[in-house]
Amino acid sequence: MRLCDLAVKKTHMVKKTINIDYSAFANTKEMPETDRILINRAIEIAKLSYSPYSKFPVGAAVQLENGEIFAGNNQENIAFPSGTCAERTVLNYVHANFPDKKIKTIAITATNTTTAEPVTPCGFCRQVIVEMEMKQKSPLRIILHKIGGETYVFETSKAILPLAFDDNVLKN
Ligand code: THU
Repeated sequence: MRLCDLAVKKTHMVKKTINIDYSAFANTKEMPETDRILINRAIEIAKLSYSPYSKFPVGAAVQLENGEIFAGNNQENIAFPSGTCAERTVLNYVHANFPDKKIKTIAITATNTTTAEPVTPCGFCRQVIVEMEMKQKSPLRIILHKIGGETYVFETSKAILPLAFDDNVLKN
C-alpha cells in the first residue's frame, strides 16, 4: 500500500458531535415551585448523609408522577466500594416499594463542593437513572443544584449519558 492510498481511505472518517440540551438557572426563584421544593428536600437530606470518609454529603430527592416525594443520601462504608451514592439510595428505595410508579424528576445536590458548578452524578448512577427512564417509558428530568450557585435542568436523563447502553441491543 502506498502513502497516497492511505490518504484516500482516511476521507471515510467523519467527525461527529453530540450536543447536550439543558437549562441553567442563576436563581431557583426562576424555577417552578415543585422543583424548588424538590431541591430543598435534597439539601435537607444531604445534611443527614453518612459520609465520614469523603466528607462529601450528597442528597437526592425524587418526585413521582403523583407528586409524592422521597429522598436519600450517600451511605459510605469503610470498605469503600460498599458505599452507595445518594441517587441510588433513593432510586432503589422508590423502585423497590413502588415499581409501577413513574418518576418525574430527581434533584441532586452536594453541601460541601469546592467547584462553582453543581455536582454531577457518577457514571454508575447515570446508568441506573437511565434504566428507570427506559423502564417507565417517559422522560425522567434531572435537576443538578449548586447551593448558592447555578441549577441545571435536563429534561431527560438520556442527556447526561450519551451513547448509553440501550436495551435495544439485547433484542435479537
Ligand atoms: N456521591 C454521590 O452520592 N452522588 C454523586 O452524584 C457523586 C458522588 C458520593 C459518593 C461518595 O460517598 C462521595 O459522594 C464522594 O465521592
